[in-house]
Amino acid sequence: MSTPPDLRTRYLGLDLRSPIVASASPLNDQLESVRSIEDAGAAAIVMPSLFEEEILFEEIDLNMSLESGSGHFAEALDYFPAVIEIATAADRYLARLETIKAQCSVPVIASLNATSTGAWIRYARLMADAGADALELNLYHVAADQQRNAADMEGADLDVIAAVRAEIDIPLAVKLSPYYSAMANFAALVVAAGADGLVLFNRFYQPDLDLDTLDVVPRIELSHQWELRLPLRWVAILRPQLDAAVSLAATSGIATGSDVVKALLVGSDVAMMASALLRDGPGHIAPVEQQLRDWMDGHGYESVSQIRGSASHATSDDPTAFERANYMRTLYSWTAPGELGNFGPDHT
Ligand SMILES: Cc1cc2nc3c(=O)[nH]c(=O)nc-3n(C[C@H](O)[C@H](O)[C@H](O)COP(=O)(O)O)c2cc1C
Repeated sequence: MSTPPDLRTRYLGLDLRSPIVASASPLNDQLESVRSIEDAGAAAIVMPSLFEEEILFEEIDLNMSLESGSGHFAEALDYFPAVIEIATAADRYLARLETIKAQCSVPVIASLNATSTGAWIRYARLMADAGADALELNLYHVAADQQRNAADMEGADLDVIAAVRAEIDIPLAVKLSPYYSAMANFAALVVAAGADGLVLFNRFYQPDLDLDTLDVVPRIELSHQWELRLPLRWVAILRPQLDAAVSLAATSGIATGSDVVKALLVGSDVAMMASALLRDGPGHIAPVEQQLRDWMDGHGYESVSQIRGSASHATSDDPTAFERANYMRTLYSWTAPGELGNFGPDHT
């Protein structure tokens, strides 16, 4: 009988049993679903982000209810002792983190999305103190201010990363959006600012319009497998340019063992899943791991480390395959339904 493939990988300095990680989503917020995800074989879990807005909205709500109460009743002073006992969104997040950490054996990565530098630093420290094995900074903003150029926006992000890095000792990952104007350069700067790893990419959720009310409505759609191509390209391009110690996680569109293999081939250390688990349930991790094993068996790979990077930018026969040259080839590869051949000049 052949030896089973070795799925172990390292991510952010953590030793993981496999490269399959549960990406930040509401599933990873509750002990019950986290346990199911762990039982199904997830190597680590990323908790959903703590959002600074969440904390601020709650504080505003609380102040408003206190103020409205104090004007009406003489007993309003009774409100104050209760305030001390009210758990904020941050308190609740930290309590969940502690519980999940205590009850699960896989590494737990906390996630933070703040808007002010002070909050990034403060909550990063609290998450590290609560026992997070690593922290993922979820940088998510839209460059909508005409007065702020790319350098201003990137500089602000880098300041936050450096400030958080200086505050905590646990490993630090930065989850990026794909919309930075010079991605390879910015990725290098993020690492220089202190990130131990990059998570590529955050998905941007595009709001829609309701044609009856004319309101802007939030719409969240789970991802499709083709969305993996964006992180695939960028992991392939960045892997050879970054120090080998820098971890890379692929996220977006990973739903099957084949997707995990692709993420590894271009040089990811881990492949993260959120939509597939929300769609098919936490148990979906197990068949994905089996598909990965089957592929490794079928293709003669003994370990994940053997797969990793074997199709990345540097090792590929065509180093520009993930860059410009592919643009023309891709356009010409389109075939109209019913057509026999491709359009464009003959490039075979
Ligand atoms: C319902 C939902 C909630 C999410 N919440 C978070 C979050 O709190 N923080 C974060 O960084 N990413 C969050 N994400 C993004 C996922 O972690 C993941 O990066 C993204 O969905 C792409 O992966 P997928 O194709 O496997 O879904 C969320 C995604 C979904 C679908």
